[in-house]
Amino acid sequence: MHATLPLPTSDVDLFADDVLHDPYPALRELREAGPAVRLAAYDAWVLPRYDHVRAALADHERFSSAHGVGYEDQFNAQMKGTVLASDPPDHTRLRALLSDKLAPKALAGLRTRIAALADVLVADAVAKGGFDAVADLAAVFPVTVVADLVGLAEEARGPLLSSADAAFNTFGPFNARAQASIPFISQMFGYLNTVMVPENLRPDGWAAAVHQAADRGDIEAASVVPLLSAYVIASMDTTINAIGNTILLFARHPQPYQEVRAEPALIGPAFEESLRLESPAQGFFRRTTQPVDIDGITIPADTKVLLSFASANRDERKWERPEEFLVRRNPVDHVALGYRVRLQPGQGLARLEAHAVLGALVRRVSSIELAGEPVRKLNNVIRGMASLPVTVRTERQ
Ligand code: HEM
Repeated sequence: MHATLPLPTSDVDLFADDVLHDPYPALRELREAGPAVRLAAYDAWVLPRYDHVRAALADHERFSSAHGVGYEDQFNAQMKGTVLASDPPDHTRLRALLSDKLAPKALAGLRTRIAALADVLVADAVAKGGFDAVADLAAVFPVTVVADLVGLAEEARGPLLSSADAAFNTFGPFNARAQASIPFISQMFGYLNTVMVPENLRPDGWAAAVHQAADRGDIEAASVVPLLSAYVIASMDTTINAIGNTILLFARHPQPYQEVRAEPALIGPAFEESLRLESPAQGFFRRTTQPVDIDGITIPADTKVLLSFASANRDERKWERPEEFLVRRNPVDHVALGYRVRLQPGQGLARLEAHAVLGALVRRVSSIELAGEPVRKLNNVIRGMASLPVTVRTERQ
């Protein structure tokens, strides 16, 4: 029989502005507090350590996504029946609908087009000498790529971006940020309902494939827009901020940038290190289906549990010098993109986009410097920048 351990509890508010600005001291405190910690500010627990986050990602029977992966029931209800808010076997069936569009073979066909697009974008930005690496680069690129893949007409793309940012806020608690996002969410569903109709869509895009699945009776007609919205939302701000965060790390760490320039094969490992160090999706919730023992601490059944990817990816039990940006570390087992059944389906596309932009940058730019104070964008889930002014030099300057 084991002795009952005191219940680790913390009053850290992971969704408060000051914590979102710099969450890492609070996350370290949570890792030290215990393997599973009750969050006094919320009706929830958090798993802050790497081993447990990874195990929970692979354990949908005890850590279920079926209620949704956000904190608030009212917002979770909107995602019900999508890939995000389901467990196997439903989850497996839904994931299969678009799996061929995101498989390596499909992505190989996109590589040249994405690389060319990235090169033009970077060349235009670099020609100005100084630019905003978020507005002029990171934010433009995934919107164009995803809208193309969805099969959306050019004129129908406008609201995609603001809605994705808003949608991620509603995965957190009902704080001011989530409340301010509600009008954008209603607007987004209104917009997607209008725009995602077969006559607006190219026949080879994601949207047409999901409509065809509904026509065949594989999914209900009412699931078409929620399912597509999950893919559109999931593919946007995650990738934008992953690229923005990497450019910020390069601007702050000139030495690793020069290492990558000298050895472009390091672009991939440097991007993985950026995903580990500044995980664009900081965490998602699960619901326990039964009491779960985490190293002697029992999380009750039917409890919301935050899987903190941001904390796991800096856990000193797992990583040496976890706070440092080491472009040769190549941390392929980080959890920034999920794991196992939850290894996220857009990973190949995200890497393709990021490697294209970063590759073009490394080829064309000999140094990147901050041209002003970067402005952080506070979001309940996403870690990234609102603006990132940089000055760049090319070899010829
Ligand atoms: C660097 C960029 C990206 C990051 C950091 C990221 C991160 C994540 C994470 C952590 C999850 C797991 C959610 C959970 O645990 O509940 C996830 C799920 C998902 N992601 Fe991404 N993502 C990125 C890019 C993309 C792209 C480009 C797509 C395009 C298709 C995409 C589509 C999805 C979908 C559909 C899910 C739900 C999958 C499921 O629950 O089975 N993501 N993403």
